[in-house]
Amino acid sequence: MSSPSHLALVPFVSVKNMMALVHHIGLETFLTELTDEIEADFKRWETFDKSPRLPSHSDVGVIELMPTSDGEHYGFKYVNGHPKNMRAGLQTVTGFGVLASVDTGYPLLFTEMTLLTALRTAATSAMATRHLARKGAKTLAMIGNGAQSEFQILALKAVCGIKAVRLYDIDPSATQKCADNLARSGIELIHCRSAEEAIEGADVITTATADKNMQTILTDNMIGNGVHINAIGGDCPGKTELHRDIVARASMFLEYPAQTRIEGELQQMPLDHPFTELWQVITGQALGRRSEDEITLFDGVGFAIEDFSALRYIARKITGTSYFEHLDMIADPDEPRDLFGMLARAKSAS
Ligand SMILES: NC(=O)c1ccc[n+]([C@@H]2O[C@H](COP(=O)([O-])OP(=O)(O)OC[C@H]3O[C@@H](n4cnc5c(N)ncnc54)[C@H](O)[C@@H]3O)[C@@H](O)[C@H]2O)c1
Repeated sequence: MSSPSHLALVPFVSVKNMMALVHHIGLETFLTELTDEIEADFKRWETFDKSPRLPSHSDVGVIELMPTSDGEHYGFKYVNGHPKNMRAGLQTVTGFGVLASVDTGYPLLFTEMTLLTALRTAATSAMATRHLARKGAKTLAMIGNGAQSEFQILALKAVCGIKAVRLYDIDPSATQKCADNLARSGIELIHCRSAEEAIEGADVITTATADKNMQTILTDNMIGNGVHINAIGGDCPGKTELHRDIVARASMFLEYPAQTRIEGELQQMPLDHPFTELWQVITGQALGRRSEDEITLFDGVGFAIEDFSALRYIARKITGTSYFEHLDMIADPDEPRDLFGMLARAKSAS
């Protein structure tokens, strides 16, 4: 066990160290291991404290806190969503997070979570796809080719065996960027001029577009039987991606109903609209896909347990490595009650 003074120095994973860690592990291995980590936590869903994330909305975006605990560890992520940021040269989504000990309340890890959010969101889509898509799915349509897209594509390649991706974005330069980044990935890349063209022949469709409106990236007449859809871009009140008729026609799977009801495609539907919680499919308590013709929809909004899994994965992976620094973040007087004395001695020592 760590000594008390050791606990005051909190391991911190910077963006630079996160990138080095991902390359050290290998991106596709990282995505595969993280998918398994999230799946293991979905299997013990009932052991977690769960609540919808705490949002602070403005006209231009949202800032959210996403906490959860399994009784041993507590984790939270700070995350924003600002679709307008991209035009100002900023990320739409940024984040950082903390993992703490429930026993002492002391933080155990402080980490960047902008990259880690893209990785965990991709791993979550891969987890949903491996349980819900038709066996042998080979072609993905990726609509919205922004910051999340390459991660989404590589996770589906690594975990689900996707071989070809049909790319579409309203901004062709985003599609070009995505294709350039994946040029050596071994995936066949097909540029498309519309969402309709992109979904032609696709077994899986992932939508990751950013807009602060109810959009209809896909309409019902575009969608053939048997596809699996990961709709991950609609993740706020008033921000959806699919026409209501597709949502009505598909079998819906989701993370945490109380949060998805407010933020997901589900917000378009009446209160009695049927859905299945993904963790129940993973534990075998509920059926996933029932037939080859069924349209399955993962209404992914991003839930705190996925961030918790990612935090624990990183905490384990940095152990014994140099991919972190120590942050002097917790005040640590020799006599616990002498916080003031510690401050006073610092003055005389300076
Ligand atoms: N569910 C989750 O867990 C989760 C996690 C992270 C991000 N997100 C959401 O995913 C979305 C994408 O995030 P990002 O970081 O990639 O954003 P981004 O701004 O980097 O990229 C979004 C892309 O969508 C494109 N786009 C916008 N409207 C479109 C349309 N009608 N058709 C095709 N393309 C369109 C834009 O041109 C842009 O290239 C955001 O809405 C974000 O909030 C969800």
